[in-house]
Amino acid sequence: MPTTDHDSSSRDGAGTQPGAFSRQPGAGTQPGAFSRQPPAALWGGRFEGEVSEAMLAFGASLPVDRRLWRWDIQGSQAHAHMLARQGIIAPEDAAAIDEGLASIARDLASGDHGFYDLADEDIHMSIERELTRRIGPAGGRLHTARSRNDQVATDTRLFCRAHAAGLATEVNRLRGVLIGLANDHLGVIMPGYTHLQKAQPVLFSHHMLAYQWMLARDFTRLLAACRAADVMPLGSAALAGTTYPLDRASVATELGFSQTSPNSLDAVSDRDFVCDLLYACSLAMVHLSRLSEEIILWSSEEFGFVTLDDAFSTGSSIMPQKKNPDFAELTRGKAGRVVGGLMGMLMTLKGLPLAYNKDLQEDKEGVFDAVDTLSMCLTAMSGMLATMRVNSAAMLAGAQGGFMAATDLADHLAARGVPFREAHEVVGRVVLDCERTGRTLQELGAEDLRAFDARFGDDAPLACDISEVVARRTTVGGTAPACVAEQIGLAREQLAADSDAATALIRP
Ligand code: ARG
Repeated sequence: MPTTDHDSSSRDGAGTQPGAFSRQPGAGTQPGAFSRQPPAALWGGRFEGEVSEAMLAFGASLPVDRRLWRWDIQGSQAHAHMLARQGIIAPEDAAAIDEGLASIARDLASGDHGFYDLADEDIHMSIERELTRRIGPAGGRLHTARSRNDQVATDTRLFCRAHAAGLATEVNRLRGVLIGLANDHLGVIMPGYTHLQKAQPVLFSHHMLAYQWMLARDFTRLLAACRAADVMPLGSAALAGTTYPLDRASVATELGFSQTSPNSLDAVSDRDFVCDLLYACSLAMVHLSRLSEEIILWSSEEFGFVTLDDAFSTGSSIMPQKKNPDFAELTRGKAGRVVGGLMGMLMTLKGLPLAYNKDLQEDKEGVFDAVDTLSMCLTAMSGMLATMRVNSAAMLAGAQGGFMAATDLADHLAARGVPFREAHEVVGRVVLDCERTGRTLQELGAEDLRAFDARFGDDAPLACDISEVVARRTTVGGTAPACVAEQIGLAREQLAADSDAATALIRP
C-alpha cells in the first residue's frame, strides 16, 4: 500500500485501551493533579504547580499524532546531521542522536511503543524524551535551534506529501479498472438519463469513462496537494527563525523537499497544504459517492443493470432474500465525513493570528481520517467494479423504452427541411399518442408516422433504431462506438503519463 505510514499501531484504538500508555495519569499526590515525576514535562522549568489531569488529557495530541512517528524521526535525524555539519553540536552527539533515533524507529516499527506517555503531550516530546533516556545528555541537544512548531509543520508536510502521492497511485488503479470495463463492454447500450428520466441511449463504456475522467482530475488535484506539501519549514523555529547558523537547504535536500519555506511566520502557521489534500480527498469522495449511488440503483431489481459479486455484497439478518450493496452505500455515506474534515480545517484556520496557535493541533485528525477513508473507498470501488456482472440485456431493454429516439426522429424531420422547433412539436405528439396506445417508437412504420406529419420519409423508422441512435453521436467526446474507442485510447495514454508522474513523486 503506497499510502501506508507504517504505523501498525496507528488505528488500533490506543489511547482508549488500558495499557496503551505506559503510565496512567492519576499518580499525583493531589486529587485531579498529575505528578510530573516521572516523566517531567520537557518544558517544566518555569512551572511550580502541577498540571491538571483532565487538562493534560485535553491538551495531549499523542493518541492522534503518534501516527507521525516515522516522519518525526526522519526530520529529527536530518536536523541533527545538519547541526553537526554546521558545527553547532559535536559529531559524536549527532551520531548518538542518529543511532538512538534509529533504535526507537526499530522498536516502533515492530509495534513496541511502551514508552508512550500522555504526559508527553505529543509524539515529538515522546520521542525526544525516550531518546534522552536511551542516549543520555546528548539527546538534550537535538532540540537546539528547533521548536515543536517547525517540527510539527515538517512532520505533517511529510505525511501529506507521502499520502497524496500514494492516493494518486490508488486513484490511477481505479482509473485502470474503469478503462478495462469500458474496453471489455464496448457495444453495450444503456439508457442515458437527465433528471433520472430516460433521455438518450449511451454506451455503458461511455458512462464508465465519464467517471474515469473525474478521477483523472482527482489525480491532478492529489498531485497538486503533494506539491503544496513539498516545502521544508525546519529552521523557522518557534516563529522568527533562529540565532544559529543553520543550513536549511541541506535539510530540505536530505528530506527530499524541493523547496525551503521563505517566511518563518508563514511556515509555522500555514496549513494550506492540509486543506489542499482535504479538498482533493473530498472531491474524490464526492465522485466515488456519485458512482456508488449509480451502482446502488443499477443493482436494484428495478434496474437490474449490474449484479454485484457476493464478495462485495452483504445479507440481511431478517430477510433471507436480501443482497445489499453495503460497500457502495458506505462509500456514499463516508463522503460526508471527509468533506466535514475539510470544513473543520478551514474553520480552524479562519480566525488564527500569526504565528503558531494550539488550535493548529486540530489539523491532523481530519486529514488522517480523510486519507484512510479515501484509500479504503478506492479499494472497495476497484473491487466492486472489477467483479460485478454487467447485464447487457437488461441495459439494452432499458434503452428500448422511454422514447429515447425522439430527438433523432425530430432530427430526421429537421434534415428534411422542417424547422427543429416544429419537428420537436410533431414528435411530441407522436410520443403522446404512443404513450396512450401503449406503443414504442420502434413499433411505428413510416405510414404510421406520416399520419402525424406528411413530411416523415420512408427511412424515418431507421431514425428510431437504438443502435443507430448511438452510432450517430459522432461528435468528439460523443457516445458513438468509434468515438468511445478513441476515448479509451486517450484515457489509456493519459493514465500511462499520469502513472509515470506519480511514480516519480513516491519517495522511498
Ligand atoms: N502537538 C502540537 C501540534 O500538533 C505541537 C506542539 C506545539 N506546541 C507548542 N506549545 N508550541 O500542533
